[in-house]
Amino acid sequence: MDRGLTRRDVLKLGGGVAAGAVLARPAVAYADGGRTKGLRDLARRAGVRVGSAVDTDALASETTYRDVLVREFDSVTPENVMKWEVVEPEQGRLDFAAADMLVRFAERHGMVVRGHNLVWHNQLPAWLTGGSFTDAQLHDILRRHILQEAGHFRGRLSAWDVVNEPLADDGTMRDTIWLRSMGTEYIDDAFRWARLADPRATLYVNDYNIEGLGPKSDAMYALVAGLRRRGVPVGGVGVQGHLDIQYGFPGGVTENLRRFVDLGVDVALTEVDVRMPLPVTPEKLATQADYYRRLVDACLAVDGVSVTVWGFTDAHSWVPGVFAGEGAATLFDEQYGRKPAYFAVRDALAAARRS
Ligand code: XIL
Repeated sequence: MDRGLTRRDVLKLGGGVAAGAVLARPAVAYADGGRTKGLRDLARRAGVRVGSAVDTDALASETTYRDVLVREFDSVTPENVMKWEVVEPEQGRLDFAAADMLVRFAERHGMVVRGHNLVWHNQLPAWLTGGSFTDAQLHDILRRHILQEAGHFRGRLSAWDVVNEPLADDGTMRDTIWLRSMGTEYIDDAFRWARLADPRATLYVNDYNIEGLGPKSDAMYALVAGLRRRGVPVGGVGVQGHLDIQYGFPGGVTENLRRFVDLGVDVALTEVDVRMPLPVTPEKLATQADYYRRLVDACLAVDGVSVTVWGFTDAHSWVPGVFAGEGAATLFDEQYGRKPAYFAVRDALAAARRS
């Protein structure tokens, strides 16, 4: 049985001739004939989902990428193809082709899809950042964007990162085009528009460096508490989870996740990876595995906190391109070999199942 995309999907995704050739090969990724359980089976028994960000180019062109994704994960997040610069490259020209393909792929494979994202300061189209719009126009542009995109996927996504990275590192509101034009109200408005467009998806605010206790996670706590008080339909806090073994493991992760849950919202780790300065050594891999295990343990201790990793193979990870001299941040190496971090996550999930 072909567990991957159909040939037509691949061609539509832009995989071209190479992707077509890959699909012709048998989809056997493991020597054990498929008996080994993936993380998703263990996660299900532990009552959580385990997901990954998906690079849709890799999805279209690599059999092994597809096989490992389907076998290990039951939730996907588009790494880039639901971002504004991709879905509306020119004003008024909407392009959901790659995202639609991923949603269909997920539906065929029993996976949920987390939408990412509706409001952010990065990966905005040039027509928007370079335009000279009035504040009132920006308000309308944002409203229309949210209604169109969330409306397009209405009913098919389990969650939306409605507002991504609204906070600066010191816990103040991040200075963005949206804050400057609309004030802090942009957050309230964004959630209300998203709710109108999609009544079902859980609506998240998502940010980084809020894993442990600290000024930025305090600010997230205060932000979400305020939204809830005002009746704004925020339903989740997304904790990205981009860690680096150089900086130590954040303090108070379990306590922090618990206080978010106590606000009455869902909590998820949404973009976990653990990078390291290169070269890779066995010691660094062991530290990385320990960080992954502690993150998953914190999720399981709090109950019902799902985990998404930001890519599952070092062959397709954003880290080397963004953090000079760093890499190897994911669960599988570049040849799709399982790393110590993979076994740490697997064992943490398996232990939860027994308890
Ligand atoms: C990253 C992608 O992984 C890269 O491919 C892209 O070039 C830049 O964005 N926080 C987020 C994600 O919310 O959307 C970012 O994804 C990583 C940091």
